[in-house]
Amino acid sequence: MVGHAFMGAVHSQAWRTVNHVFDLPARVEPAVVCGRDPQRAAAAAERLGWADHVSDWRELVAREDIDVIDICTPGDSHAEIAIAALRAGKHVLCEKPLANSVDEARAMAAAAEQARIAGVRSLCGFNYRRVPAIALLRRLVEDGRLGEIRHVRAVYLQDWITDPEYPLVWRLRREKAGSGALGDLGAHIIDLAHYLTGDRLTGVTGLSETFVPTRPLPQGESQGGLAAGASGAAESAERGEVTVDDATLFLGRFAGGAVATFEATRFATGRKNALRIELNGSRGSAAFDFERLNELEFLDATQPSAEQGFRRILVTEADHPYLSAWWPPGHGLGYEHSFIHQARDLVAAITSGQDPHPSFTEALQVQLVLDAVERSAADGSAWASVIAAGE
Ligand SMILES: NC(=O)c1ccc[n+]([C@@H]2O[C@H](COP(=O)([O-])OP(=O)(O)OC[C@H]3O[C@@H](n4cnc5c(N)ncnc54)[C@H](O)[C@@H]3O)[C@@H](O)[C@H]2O)c1
Repeated sequence: MVGHAFMGAVHSQAWRTVNHVFDLPARVEPAVVCGRDPQRAAAAAERLGWADHVSDWRELVAREDIDVIDICTPGDSHAEIAIAALRAGKHVLCEKPLANSVDEARAMAAAAEQARIAGVRSLCGFNYRRVPAIALLRRLVEDGRLGEIRHVRAVYLQDWITDPEYPLVWRLRREKAGSGALGDLGAHIIDLAHYLTGDRLTGVTGLSETFVPTRPLPQGESQGGLAAGASGAAESAERGEVTVDDATLFLGRFAGGAVATFEATRFATGRKNALRIELNGSRGSAAFDFERLNELEFLDATQPSAEQGFRRILVTEADHPYLSAWWPPGHGLGYEHSFIHQARDLVAAITSGQDPHPSFTEALQVQLVLDAVERSAADGSAWASVIAAGE
């Protein structure tokens, strides 16, 4: 695993736990963690349960005792590490968004396609697909319970940088993060919109805003701002420019005729991790809110109108996705479980010789939407087409 801060800790927990919960034909051994500072990497190995540590990811790629490389670094290093790992025959799990640009994402998808021929698997970490309520919503759509989808309404709201003195962490610098709220939060809801509808966005019109243009420079190497214990306090009197969006909103059209609205922001005061998505179809509607992640709201429009209404499904039954391995009904799951499910699905795919989803090509499709939104926002919200990843 490369990187051992926020995602590194969450992924470590998933790797440590997956075999204790799910019955899998292979055992995960957390072998080596990579961090550029050897002392911190050693401490992380001890704390997060890795047998060994290195300070250069190239050592991981060269080692013969490693089968999977898990990339938990900021977006500026995803392409280089993933492509080298795939070429060395390692299965790759890469955090989202796949890359910082369409060109990088294309190169990664091409490398993944090439490696796939040799049985090497790759997966992009859009973990919210693996929240049981979201997977149940996908099942309802697949079973035709929502009918023809007309609307997708998605928001992803956080508020951790509303203080103008919050430091200029890497997530606020284009060269490290690619974009701001759009790529960090918007990427998740774009992927969910693709996944839940089984369709893809073909065009968008968007707008972006950066409310706080300069921020205090952090001292030394900055964390992304979300790791446990990350400081929200100003660290220096000197300020630097914020080069990404604080908030991005856009409208979109799907190939199948549905229309959609999206909002991604880090300035939704009071909203901490409010990923919400609602689908309206000809036969029903469903709505999910991550701040109530064990629930799914569902309306069945085929019922007599006098009895219709949104009902709350408590998604903790053994016949709900992933739940048979967990606790008795009503004993809910949390944030980390989607990552354990992600680890489960990757190990299952590797051992059964199947491709896990979302593939790098599916993640490239998300990147193409991000790019179109940025083009639109830079051009007075003009309509911007989104090509299919294969074109
Ligand atoms: N799936 C999700 O919900 C989710 C949530 C948060 C972050 N992410 C993604 O995970 C990735 C990491 O984000 P984070 O929040 O963990 O950031 P973070 O700042 O908490 O951690 C990043 C770590 O990577 C290390 N790093 C940077 N470059 C490196 C290199 N070349 N070699 C080795 N280590 C290096 C940093 O020192 C740091 O320890 C990003 O792509 C981000 O978008 C995904």
